[in-house]
Amino acid sequence: MTSAAIRQQFLDFFKEKQHTIVPSAPIVIKNDPTLLFTNAGMNQFKDYFLGNKTPAHRRVADTQKCLRVSGKHNDLEEVGVDTYHHTMFEMLGNWSFGDYFKKEAIAWSWELLTAIFKINPMQIYVTVFEGDEAEGLPFDQEAYDEWARWVAPEHILKGNKKDNFWEMGETGPCGPCSEIHMDCRSEAERSQVFGGALVNADHPQVIEIWNNVFMQFNRGKDGSLTPLPEKHVDTGMGFERLVRVLQNKTSNYDTDVFTGTLKVIGELTGKTYTATDSRQDIAFRVLSDQIRAIAFSIADGQLPSNT
Ligand code: ALA
Repeated sequence: MTSAAIRQQFLDFFKEKQHTIVPSAPIVIKNDPTLLFTNAGMNQFKDYFLGNKTPAHRRVADTQKCLRVSGKHNDLEEVGVDTYHHTMFEMLGNWSFGDYFKKEAIAWSWELLTAIFKINPMQIYVTVFEGDEAEGLPFDQEAYDEWARWVAPEHILKGNKKDNFWEMGETGPCGPCSEIHMDCRSEAERSQVFGGALVNADHPQVIEIWNNVFMQFNRGKDGSLTPLPEKHVDTGMGFERLVRVLQNKTSNYDTDVFTGTLKVIGELTGKTYTATDSRQDIAFRVLSDQIRAIAFSIADGQLPSNT
């Protein structure tokens, strides 16, 4: 399947579940002083979560251009050094604005990955929020129970506030989340070392692909959490990572999202990309990643400068 076909399948799946497909917002944000660049699919919907505006549709899906190079979500140092972080990436997302909640979000994530994309369930691990005493937040039993309908108990892991409580920035909408991780190691490796032990452990073949956030709070300037007027769903799947999984590659850069750019960089520089950890291959990956980020940022209205 090409990356374009995979993107379309995601959108079609949620369209069938009565979601309205909306365009990506620009990667450059002009009307929110808390953010310079879009860092998540939910940015353009922030006022719906906070109850400041009423959405035209209660179910929405899209693919959003995101840039994570500063602030709370900053992947810049990882880019190119590893094979699965990007400055700019596409975030596939589905949203409920006061409509469905954990039950449907979890069931549909599972259906899309295992029934439509035919991913082997034994290669999937999910995490749920373990709770946080200091914040007065309980273990997310509801998410656990919904996952338990589909997923083997040893594939459901508990995660802490760092990994399982998602916040847009220092302030703004937030809530407990459930991540979906893929174990892309070979069958032999999987039978030797339990994949659950490698989740959130920086293993290059055991990577998060999708996050389901259950928006319930607003983080205020004083750090306090206030319940939102309604409960919402905010999900984000890393498009380049999903393509890598479905195209059966061990690096995002070996998918058709990047191979064309890597080829042109080779032609322009007279060097050859060999997909190793060498400094030259890291440079190839950085260039192919950042030319995309720069092109889209300029196209969306941000001119480069020395700052
Ligand atoms: N907003 C969530 C994220 O960016 C889905 O991970």
